[in-house]
Amino acid sequence: MIIYRNVSVRYRGGVEALTRVNLSIGEGSFVFLVGSTGSGKSTLFKLLYRELAPTEGHVYFRGEDVTLMPPRHTPFLRRQMGVVFQDFRLLPYKSALENVSYALQVIGHDPRDIHRRAMASLRRVGLFERASAMPHELSGGEQQRVSIARALVNEPVALLADEPTGNLDPDTSFEVMQLLESICAEMGTTIVVATHDRDIVDRMARRVIVLEAGRVARDEVGGYDAEIPEPPAPEPPAPEANGEASGSATAPADLALQEVED
Ligand SMILES: Nc1ncnc2c1ncn2[C@@H]1O[C@H](COP(=O)(O)OP(=O)(O)OP(=O)(O)O)[C@@H](O)[C@H]1O
Ligand SMILES: [Mg+2]
Repeated sequence: MIIYRNVSVRYRGGVEALTRVNLSIGEGSFVFLVGSTGSGKSTLFKLLYRELAPTEGHVYFRGEDVTLMPPRHTPFLRRQMGVVFQDFRLLPYKSALENVSYALQVIGHDPRDIHRRAMASLRRVGLFERASAMPHELSGGEQQRVSIARALVNEPVALLADEPTGNLDPDTSFEVMQLLESICAEMGTTIVVATHDRDIVDRMARRVIVLEAGRVARDEVGGYDAEIPEPPAPEPPAPEANGEASGSATAPADLALQEVED
């Protein structure tokens, strides 16, 4: 579903942010991306939604080579992905509902459909009752849940979360991460979470991709560090990337969002 093949990124000024990265992330999986600051995590995300083109190599999303995609196709690409950031990035003068609706309004959906889908998305993150609240009336964890609802409203096949718990306390962080995990399990959304949160990564025991100075240093199921308490259960080896990612025609998120409609 997501494949990086021999991807290198050299920024202007000469910083080599990624060096010959090879990764394969299957549809419906939940993956942590960890590594110290500057190791290339955000760069990896930006390649996927085509904010950035690699200096070398190819990035595939659902079988399509993103690196060869004409610029006019990037809005369609981005609609298949939801993105969540550390600082929530909510519009401060819009309510939770308006924040979630906004992406659909921009595309020009039918207003009644927008309302239904936005409310379903808020319900999914447990904030149905707070739909009219403004961001400043919500806790950090609630604001992050609104931003997750916003990311889900387009029924994306993949959700990319770049340090989603960076501004949250440990308990709230764990709740937000569990919410992401349940979205993956119930909606089939592929979820990639970049994080520095050692505790959460250890507790959740998922596949962990470790970047070090732009290279994949480790890729296995387990904890944040190499010392894993229990024997690791490695993911099957990534299939030789041939550009044929295992994308399917229907987004599983479609079905899941309909289930929670009011
Ligand atoms: N637009 C840019 N121009 C030049 N260098 C950049 C640019 N963006 C990132 N870099 C450099 O590329 C490297 C990787 O940056 P990136 O933001 O991907 O790291 P990160 O792992 O997300 O770090 P953090 O954990 O701090 O968010 C760093 O050395 C960074 O300084
Ligand atoms: Mg980053």
